[in-house]
Amino acid sequence: MKKEVLKALRRGQQISGGKLGKDLGISRTAVWKCINGLRADGYEIESTPSKGYCFISAPDSLLPGEIQEELKTHTLGREMVYRPETGSTQVLAKSLATAGAASGTVVICEKQTGGFGRLGRKWHSLPGSVSFSVVLRPAIHPLEALKFPIIAGVAVAGAIERVTGLNPRLKWPNDIILGGKKAGGILTEMAAEIDRINYLIIGIGLNANTSKSQIPEDIKNMATSLKIQCRREISRVRLIQVILEELESLSDGFQRAGFEPVRKRWEELGCTIGNQVYFIRDGKTAEGEAVAMDDDGALLVTQADGTLAKVLYGDVTLKTGMGEAG
Ligand code: BTN
Repeated sequence: MKKEVLKALRRGQQISGGKLGKDLGISRTAVWKCINGLRADGYEIESTPSKGYCFISAPDSLLPGEIQEELKTHTLGREMVYRPETGSTQVLAKSLATAGAASGTVVICEKQTGGFGRLGRKWHSLPGSVSFSVVLRPAIHPLEALKFPIIAGVAVAGAIERVTGLNPRLKWPNDIILGGKKAGGILTEMAAEIDRINYLIIGIGLNANTSKSQIPEDIKNMATSLKIQCRREISRVRLIQVILEELESLSDGFQRAGFEPVRKRWEELGCTIGNQVYFIRDGKTAEGEAVAMDDDGALLVTQADGTLAKVLYGDVTLKTGMGEAG
């Protein structure tokens, strides 16, 4: 009911507890309890005797009510699980998905204390960042799931572009690069049977409003944030809304019309193609020129002996560092 009370208050006019209760079919005491709950969540609500309540401001938080307010998706983010603090949204999303959480459920937190990334690496959830995981249950063959990290990367890059006007680049498969440094990463995990996906969890971590001084010394020369790059604070709520919109639209488009549009877009956004790269092959480091992404989402690398290597997993390092070049 807190959600409905907030919606009514956001319409802007001052409204009495009695009228609010009547409109929502609840008692004045129930309205009062909701108002107290909203205040405890950080909403500023003014109350004037005999006139009623007036919405003043929302907290700078990632509360579901804030994200869902202007969210233009059909399924993504319609169910949200929020924690002020959690170890990893990825772990929580996996346990909720195993227990039957609906496709589109978003698990989000303010502070993540045990985040992890691809290849088991530690993920620093820095102050001002956003960390969330999305449960998806696409009706596709498990082999097709390899395309989802690419779809998610293109969605996040598109959202950053829309919200900040910056030109993000993608390092294979989906590191988000701004100004030659990493601003975010995506981790896609899957639970499947041989011929059926049970669920995918897409975990997104982005340094949004992180200041230079909040980046730890050991990653300072590799990491950046949206705020550092566009020299202003951004709305993290708006950023998440747009990521969810882009992800839903690309995921639906992929299931309807195939991978080619996403593959092309990834190649445009990529900072990997045309560059010399190192990659791991049979436990050893190999190298070559990244020439294309194929229609499985694999990176094709031409090696010195002319053979073409297909890199489907693991890591790829640009020989020249994470440049801005396409
Ligand atoms: C990477 O660059 O290796 C991927 C990083 C993914 C981090 C996100 S933050 C939200 C979700 N929870 C986690 O523990 N990891 C992902």
